[in-house]
Amino acid sequence: MHLTQEQEKMLSGERGEATQKAMEIIVGLGDIYEAEKLIPIESAHISGISMTTAGEAGLDFIEGMAEKGAEVSVPTTINPAAIDLQRWESLGAPKDISENQIKMIESYEKIGARATCSCVPYMIGNEPNFGEDIAWSESSAVVYANSVCGARTNREGAPSALASAITGLTPLYGYHLDENRFGDIRIKPDPELFEGNSTFPYSVLGYWIGKEFPEAVPVIENLNPNPDQSKALGAGLATSGAIALYHIPEATPEAKKNSEVCGTKRGVSFGSEEFESIVEELDQVSEPDLICIGCPHVSLDELEKLLEGSGSKEIWACLPRDLKESSDLKKISSQLEESNVKLVCDTCMVVAPLSEMGYSRIGVNSAKAAHYAPSLAGVKVHFAPLEELIK
Ligand code: F3S
Repeated sequence: MHLTQEQEKMLSGERGEATQKAMEIIVGLGDIYEAEKLIPIESAHISGISMTTAGEAGLDFIEGMAEKGAEVSVPTTINPAAIDLQRWESLGAPKDISENQIKMIESYEKIGARATCSCVPYMIGNEPNFGEDIAWSESSAVVYANSVCGARTNREGAPSALASAITGLTPLYGYHLDENRFGDIRIKPDPELFEGNSTFPYSVLGYWIGKEFPEAVPVIENLNPNPDQSKALGAGLATSGAIALYHIPEATPEAKKNSEVCGTKRGVSFGSEEFESIVEELDQVSEPDLICIGCPHVSLDELEKLLEGSGSKEIWACLPRDLKESSDLKKISSQLEESNVKLVCDTCMVVAPLSEMGYSRIGVNSAKAAHYAPSLAGVKVHFAPLEELIK
């Protein structure tokens, strides 16, 4: 791979040990994927933040990088952690995990990342522009950035996203290249399943496509999802497969600009049989003891829908702290509390230690949460639309 003189200096250690380590990671990645060169990025988003998944090794790594003087060189946000950083004690999170988690977040802040602790960076000030190269991990955000924003990122891992944040560079391969952004399978969903503004069918559709065509760039016909539905679709696509990008003719920005990206002819249908097969696969139990909304993190619109519920069930709404502190949310926060809704920031139902907090069955409307919560949070799931969960 061709490196500039400055990049050679970064790699040889002339710009410090942390930069050298970061360069080793991205040059190694570039060599594996036979990238021709490194390109500059506009932003980074780093996953692997939760102590429940990153563990002591993750904490040691970021503490070590901070001690070596690492500093991010582009705007950088980070994914959810294991706890609500401000009220972990009252929510019942274990002390040892919580204390280590706080140390980890402090290290990210020390290197200059914004401690957003949210998987929807595009909702809270890190929204990429069309055509921008970025380096994001968090697979659901990657799909949103590529497809809804028209930015360009591969599905980075936590170490490569961190390395790119520090160097401001990423190898030129994969979804940064025009030739890899063409659709290769047409999906024809039954429009009747998608009437209304529920995110549930989009989550199911995404999960089904990812399962059937895990490496694809799908072209999805007949739909025009709102931002919350797009979020749900992207999270589903990225969970059961390795999908990072989709197009919707005349709706997503790249398809609008260049209709040739949707030119594939091969097509399959998605109807009630496919829909039911996914619901059946993911739905494990009834009668959950906690309802968890916000995978990916909720928007204000989604929170407003919670006010339509009965108020008899305990609900966690996982959201970005920036949204919780916004004046729009403050207007409805007391109503939400009266409806038994806890606004849980900085974490989510998958990366929080739910079983250690006393929960065993949760209700979710997200295929991603239904897929991961049993193995990562140690709980069984009831998978159903929001309206059904809160009635
Ligand atoms: Fe976000 Fe957690 Fe789901 S990080 S996408 S809410 S698994």
